[in-house]
Amino acid sequence: QATSIPADNVPDMEKRKLLNLLLVGALSLPTGFMLVPYATFFAPPGSGGGGGGTPAKDALGNDVIAAEWLKTHGAGDRTLTQGLKGDPTYLVVENDKTLATYGINAVCTHLGCVVPWNKAENKFLCPCHGSQYNAQGRVVRGPAPLSLALAHADIDDGGKVLFVPWVETDFRTGDAPWWS
Ligand code: FES
Repeated sequence: QATSIPADNVPDMEKRKLLNLLLVGALSLPTGFMLVPYATFFAPPGSGGGGGGTPAKDALGNDVIAAEWLKTHGAGDRTLTQGLKGDPTYLVVENDKTLATYGINAVCTHLGCVVPWNKAENKFLCPCHGSQYNAQGRVVRGPAPLSLALAHADIDDGGKVLFVPWVETDFRTGDAPWWS
């Protein structure tokens, strides 16, 4: 087998390449993990905006129409859309199958990972360092210091879902909104 290696330095080169590969892999893994949801949801940069609110966009970049959304998203559903400033934001379907009047910003208040919804636990569980948020996005376990940010989810005359900045008291905590 050794005869197939033409020069003495080749094994070293191979080793170095392998190390480099491992290094690149190790470095890109955490960031890649965090960026995947962004890449998925923010392919088309938000074209909405202006004072009246920003249309929620689905994973394909289409405006969310409330009635259509509710046909495919049942009671208790929490699904990511593109929200204010491009932030991944959950639309919430209430138990009475209406759309909640608030959206939940999915960016973890610890170090910014996108927090997935865990239906079985009825919580948002951050995969990065274990923070937990209840079904309304209120923090119930650290290290996250704060609850997930809110946005109003309004429905315009055409039935589109519009996100509007939430500047009022946080109904979950009774505190002033830390994000505005
Ligand atoms: Fe979510 Fe650290 S980023 S727990």
